[in-house]
Amino acid sequence: MAASTVLAKAVGAEKELKVHMPGYGGLRSSGMITLAGSVRAMPASSSSSSSAGIVRAVATPDTAVVKRSKVELYKEQSNFLRFPLNEELQNEAAGINEVATQLIKFHGSYQQTNRDERGTKSYQFMLRTKNPCGKVPNKLYLVMDDLADEFGIGTLRLTTRQTFQLHGVLKKNLKTVMSTIIKNMGSTLGACGDLNRNVLAPAAPYTNKEYAFAQETAENIASLLTPQSGAYYDIWVDGEKVMSAEPPEVTAARNDNSHGTNFPESPEPIYGTQFLPRKFKIAVTVPTDNSVDILTNDIGVVVISDSDGEHQGFNIYVGGGMGRTHRVETTFPRLGEPLGYVPKEDILYAVKAIVVTQRENGRRDDRKYSRMKYLISQWGIEKFRCVVEKYYGKKFEPFRELPDWEFRSYLGWHEQGDGALFCGLHVDSGRIGGKMKKALREVIEKYNLNVRITPNQNLILCDIRRTWRRPITTVLAQAGLLQPKYVDPLNITSMACPALPLCPLAITEAERGIPDILKRVRAVFDKVGLRYNESVVIRITGCPNGCARPYMAELGFVGDGPNSYQIWLGGTPNQTSLAKCFMNKVKIQDLEKVLEPLFYNWRRKRLRGEPFGQFTTRVVYKVALDDATHGCRQ
Ligand code: HEM
Ligand code: SF4
Repeated sequence: MAASTVLAKAVGAEKELKVHMPGYGGLRSSGMITLAGSVRAMPASSSSSSSAGIVRAVATPDTAVVKRSKVELYKEQSNFLRFPLNEELQNEAAGINEVATQLIKFHGSYQQTNRDERGTKSYQFMLRTKNPCGKVPNKLYLVMDDLADEFGIGTLRLTTRQTFQLHGVLKKNLKTVMSTIIKNMGSTLGACGDLNRNVLAPAAPYTNKEYAFAQETAENIASLLTPQSGAYYDIWVDGEKVMSAEPPEVTAARNDNSHGTNFPESPEPIYGTQFLPRKFKIAVTVPTDNSVDILTNDIGVVVISDSDGEHQGFNIYVGGGMGRTHRVETTFPRLGEPLGYVPKEDILYAVKAIVVTQRENGRRDDRKYSRMKYLISQWGIEKFRCVVEKYYGKKFEPFRELPDWEFRSYLGWHEQGDGALFCGLHVDSGRIGGKMKKALREVIEKYNLNVRITPNQNLILCDIRRTWRRPITTVLAQAGLLQPKYVDPLNITSMACPALPLCPLAITEAERGIPDILKRVRAVFDKVGLRYNESVVIRITGCPNGCARPYMAELGFVGDGPNSYQIWLGGTPNQTSLAKCFMNKVKIQDLEKVLEPLFYNWRRKRLRGEPFGQFTTRVVYKVALDDATHGCRQ
């Protein structure tokens, strides 16, 4: 395909996305802030589904008026995520039924099958941990490493949300694996499901005030929004409460009901029986550091400090999110937008007010439209702010001006600020296995190192003494864990989701396909005369859900058929703009035909220092828009 043809084909995604969705009445039975009513509590350990005992929030909708998705019914009848999961875990079957499959997500697990295997389905489970800021204590790392060998597929997966995934756990081993994680300072509670997921924060173990404060804030927000009913501990550790104590200000913020946010007598004061309409994602960072892809989260929190470095408050973005559905143009990825500023003592109350606004108003009839981004798109930010302020009890102050964002990988050796060093290691697609797994274990165990997972599927080894630097570098290099200058720049910023064979939603390959795709991109670079140290951010997913955030990439591949991808162009290296859909149904064998003219034109026609994503936005889409006859239908 000629370059000009390729350019001319790119249209459509520039179109303003207008959301026309059928109306939805929300959860409230009446009035705007009518939640804090009577609820009937039942003992936390019961697994009964009898409706007499179920705690019903006042906000439960009138089902005659509002149709709800089946997951809403499962949640409501589950006695806070127990029934029928408990029962299903105890029977002899290899898998669990549909309702339990939905519920176990809230406990941090997906039921999966190996799609490479033909014939009868062999069920297995993926477990995802929750690690605010990506923090992994030494002991937990070693335990996860053991569990992967003993009960998993022998690899650990670092995810785009600073967590571990352990694949291939059989049902009969689930309780052993879960309880081992819980008893070794880990948790999987709320890693999946319709609630607040892992809270991101820059993974760098800097000891300076600003970073430490961002990380402390992330941990406090994570605690605030952790489920409280005890179901998780009932199921996995027989009711033992293995929870670390939370700061008193977190408990106070959770229990505060001055503005009608809570279900005061419920075991889940913030979530009630229905939890949230859909997953909810929060990231915290400091100005300039966009290692967390801040704008892709439902809430993005930015620490604001004064000129002496003393923290004063927070800027808040709302309404980011990645997932979409092919050929449904009313679904779309969206960037977070400024909501306002709050003083530092108010952050937990402001976050809770936003969560409650989504809980009460996010759609529960159609899960495709349940993320908060659709609520904000439909209402507009002014109305959204107004409603949040009622739950917050105050007005938001104006959003403070911020410097430009930068992507930081933290790869290589750095000073922590307390005399120790940290070392960021690039791990392709976050997959730790084989020699690399052994070497990491050896080093982490021998030097008793704590670890951090980055939102780019990489690993940081922390608390390293200077004298250990050389022996550690040697052991790691022998296992292929190289210093960043020896890694292809294309690999450093690329990401792929796991996709096939374990993800049930995968349409095509991502993690297994990316090594070859990156090599082919490098070959095209060489052919058109781009230098080795030039790079583009490439992200690949096996379906449009966007688990590796492909819509923020300069070059995104989104699976749209067997061995076929949509191509998205136009993200930036610092992850501040959304890519647009450039082409559909590009067969994997035709990649060069599409990429070569694009890269050739970038090399020839870019402005000084212009990254590929910005070039495509300036040149490719401009040209393409002149030809308004074709479209990349999403
Ligand atoms: C069975 C279904 C699903 C599975 C097994 C799954 C798996 C995953 C995995 C493995 C990650 C980490 C990715 C990595 O490190 O490469 C992830 C993250 C993510 N998932 Fe999914 N996912 C599922 C459903 C969905 C759906 C339905 C959506 C959206 C509609 C979605 C959106 C995302 C996004 C945006 C992330 C990026 C991480 C972030 O939150 O910043 N996922 N998911
Ligand atoms: S993007 Fe799609 S294929 Fe990839 S892990 Fe997520 S749901 Fe699965």
